[in-house]
Amino acid sequence: METAYNDKIVRQFTIMTVFWGVVGMAVGVFIAAQLLIPALNFDISWLTYSRLRPLHTNGVIFAFGGTALIGTSYYVVQRTCGVPLFAPRLASFTFWGWMLALVLAVITLPLGITQSKEYAELEWPIDLLIAAVWIAYGIVFFGTIVKRKEKHIYVANWFYGAFIITIAVLHIFNNLVVPVSLWKSYPIYAGAVDAMVQWWYGHNAVGFFLTTSFLGMMYYFVPKQAQRPIYSYRLSIVHFWALISVYMWAGPHHLHYTALPDWAQSLGMVFSLILLAPSWGGMINGMMTMSGAWHKLRTDPILKFLIVALSFYGMATFEGPMMSIKTVNALSHYTDWTIGHVHAGALGWVGFITIGSLYYLIPRLYGRTEMYSTRAVELHFWISTIGVVLYIAAMWIAGVMQGLMWREVNPDGTLTYAFIESIKATYPYYAVRLLGGLLYLSGMVIMAWNTWKTARMAPAQATRQEDLALAQTA
Ligand code: HEM
Ligand code: HEM
Repeated sequence: METAYNDKIVRQFTIMTVFWGVVGMAVGVFIAAQLLIPALNFDISWLTYSRLRPLHTNGVIFAFGGTALIGTSYYVVQRTCGVPLFAPRLASFTFWGWMLALVLAVITLPLGITQSKEYAELEWPIDLLIAAVWIAYGIVFFGTIVKRKEKHIYVANWFYGAFIITIAVLHIFNNLVVPVSLWKSYPIYAGAVDAMVQWWYGHNAVGFFLTTSFLGMMYYFVPKQAQRPIYSYRLSIVHFWALISVYMWAGPHHLHYTALPDWAQSLGMVFSLILLAPSWGGMINGMMTMSGAWHKLRTDPILKFLIVALSFYGMATFEGPMMSIKTVNALSHYTDWTIGHVHAGALGWVGFITIGSLYYLIPRLYGRTEMYSTRAVELHFWISTIGVVLYIAAMWIAGVMQGLMWREVNPDGTLTYAFIESIKATYPYYAVRLLGGLLYLSGMVIMAWNTWKTARMAPAQATRQEDLALAQTA
């Protein structure tokens, strides 16, 4: 007898991923436009750049990325363990609790309510809600693994599992605060220790929220869509242990040339350089899974998303270690180069692997094998690929230009350029970035339309089958 999986919860998370993707990226496009035309804040406090920027980062990382991760992990853990989800009511709580936390973020961030810690802006009452949801998520996920029928725990679950445990630890320790009112608190850490804890959190938010977890997604959906086994299962295990043990130590590369002890900065740099090896191990393992199936790339736009995602993952994880070298960081830090690096990872890796996996998932969640329009998926792929390339190329050029302008000195030792001159020189690149962002966002809107059509088609098909059944009995 076939196991009845709990797919309602996966559907809920999946639909909301598309929704939050459109919202989070629309805010990204809006702030990109504000950098070009500052008057777009309309002198309204809650529309100012400083308040909308954290709304964008929370919107894309936690709302779009987080919702995709919880949803896909529920799908994957059921299939690979051969059992329905453990504690379905608790799973339902994770959905509604997570959505509530996101709505509270959408309200409080534009109001200027913030802890002022990047990626950990939300104030303590929302943090408590997130902690409760996360612990419930852990119970559902690991509970399902405990009651599994398959003896072996498939590697994707190891990646998802490490993500769940690490994010719980990071979230709790970085948010230890003393509340002074309902919407204001102060961290228990001070000075350089506070900075260190924040970037231990911040970097591992990248490492575990934006990387390890999405590798879990990759290890399930790439072999599924390519219809090939993973290239090397042994490599996937080595990749897992190497990645999670090295990531933890790289945080200080965010604090080069600061009050942090110099040895800690160098340690962060060395671990970041080592990180190249496990990162590329994973990238190569994903890519090589296509061996013997490369021809499918010509006709399958979902595979295109998944494989291009891996290419961007490789690119970002080569660039990151380079940027962590102190002398390179002296040039890149504070410039748009960092923003280019971030979005190579965010749009190219996180965005593409999610979009590809969702295109695999959505039709199956509605009892079909394909999206309503494969041509629309193809169009989405090209539009967003051009979007990413425009975005990151513009930011790379702008970033290197800014860094070079700031350090240029005349023979008498005075600065060659005033800071404002570097901003003026950046405007054309901000325009190109805006165009790239608009293209990427348009792709998400096409996806939302295609998802809507696919979901709407399902009852029609079911009705047709019922009709057929009726006709046969008549
Ligand atoms: C081997 C892997 C990686 C290493 C060693 C690395 C290293 C770095 C370095 C050195 C910076 C600049 C820090 C600064 O000057 O302030 C940075 C920034 C950043 N990276 Fe990476 N990176 C890696 C992969 C990735 C990936 C795959 C993503 C995204 C999915 C990513 C997302 C980010 C983000 C969001 C920031 C900006 C943090 C901030 O200042 O707000 N990184 N990374
Ligand atoms: C249409 C797509 C997007 C556009 C137009 C966009 C635009 C922007 C802009 C203008 C900024 C501020 C840059 C600055 O302060 O100079 C930003 C920051 C950021 N975005 Fe996006 N973004 C998009 C998608 C995404 C996605 C999908 C993610 C993650 C999955 C993401 C993650 C981030 C992060 C982490 C930062 C902060 C970087 C830092 O502090 O170094 N963005 N984005």
